[in-house]
Amino acid sequence: MSVTARAPTEEAPLTVRDLSVHIEGAPVVDGVTLDVRAGETVALVGESGCGKSMTALAVMGLLPPAAHVDGGTIRINGSDTTRQAEHAMQRLRGDKIAMIFQEPVSSLNPLMRVGAQIVEALLSHRRIDQQAARRAAIEMIDRVGIPDPETRFRQYPFELSGGMCQRVMIAIALICEPAILIADEPTTALDVTIQAQILDLMRALTDETGTALLLITHDMGVVADMADRVAVMYAGRIVETAPARALFARQRHPYTRLLLGTIPKVEGQGRTLLPTIEGVVPDMRELPVGCRFHPRCPLAGPRCRQEAPPLAAAPDDPAHESACWFADRVGEIA
Ligand SMILES: Nc1ncnc2c1ncn2[C@@H]1O[C@H](COP(=O)(O)OP(=O)(O)OP(=O)(O)O)[C@@H](O)[C@H]1O
Ligand code: SF4
Ligand SMILES: [Mg+2]
Repeated sequence: MSVTARAPTEEAPLTVRDLSVHIEGAPVVDGVTLDVRAGETVALVGESGCGKSMTALAVMGLLPPAAHVDGGTIRINGSDTTRQAEHAMQRLRGDKIAMIFQEPVSSLNPLMRVGAQIVEALLSHRRIDQQAARRAAIEMIDRVGIPDPETRFRQYPFELSGGMCQRVMIAIALICEPAILIADEPTTALDVTIQAQILDLMRALTDETGTALLLITHDMGVVADMADRVAVMYAGRIVETAPARALFARQRHPYTRLLLGTIPKVEGQGRTLLPTIEGVVPDMRELPVGCRFHPRCPLAGPRCRQEAPPLAAAPDDPAHESACWFADRVGEIA
């Protein structure tokens, strides 16, 4: 884990300011601001449907056709890419910024050997000879935990298991050592040993090459292991953000506190989620007035049902922000 000192003179590789994305009138991402600095891991957490993947896809320029960015800015390595043309985004993707996608459904080309696909990803952005690219690809196949990399290099996707195809896609994302890596639930489809290996690999990448890692996960255990900072999303908004240690020590939003109650516990061979937070994430087309969390919040009062709280810094820690009228009372929640 790297140190999270602020570098005021140097812009973070990824900066997102006040980003909003609508799908058919629903504000699925609503005013999201976040930075990921070089060598830093920022975890983006929140329940299903709160807008984590849409935030990531907006950054990648890969939103589905129904979704539109309608406010804010995205800067990648100092350049505004918010409304960048597709051909320019294509040059950035895989080189400066890469993403490991949430859906394990393989986006590999079924007609091409896996090694050739990794080599192609490398050669499309780097000027190195075929032999060097081949060696780098085999090394990366090994680093993502696939045994017998020389043999696997020559195989087609159908000859590999689903988990191995997922790891090949991870290899493709990592082969150019991107300045920014977005990993959207990168390990959920993998078994526990491989999960740990992939997380180690991502940690090595941030430490050794200064990659800025935006790690999207449901698993607060992974957050505790990996993150320097955490941003908690609820119903399209960031409701709390802080250095990981500060957030685990003390929560300033009831949602975060309740999320921490869902840390997976080891039971027998697998990991099981504890009971989830009572109530459901609101329909993004019919959001509650006031604080969006109020229907589920144990601290909700009359003000919460009328006025939306702004994201504000804690009086004693400017790096710890939350959007709650009663941030000082969150510790009362059992
Ligand atoms: N292709 C789509 N068309 C229309 N609505 C979508 C589409 N994909 C996602 N949404 C909606 O956008 C909102 C945000 O979804 P998003 O995929 O960003 O959630 P998420 O936080 O990544 O959830 P999960 O943890 O389940 O991956 C949700 O309300 C979802 O229903
Ligand atoms: S503003 Fe009110 S409803 Fe919203 S999280 Fe804080 S206490 Fe709960
Ligand atoms: Mg998602």
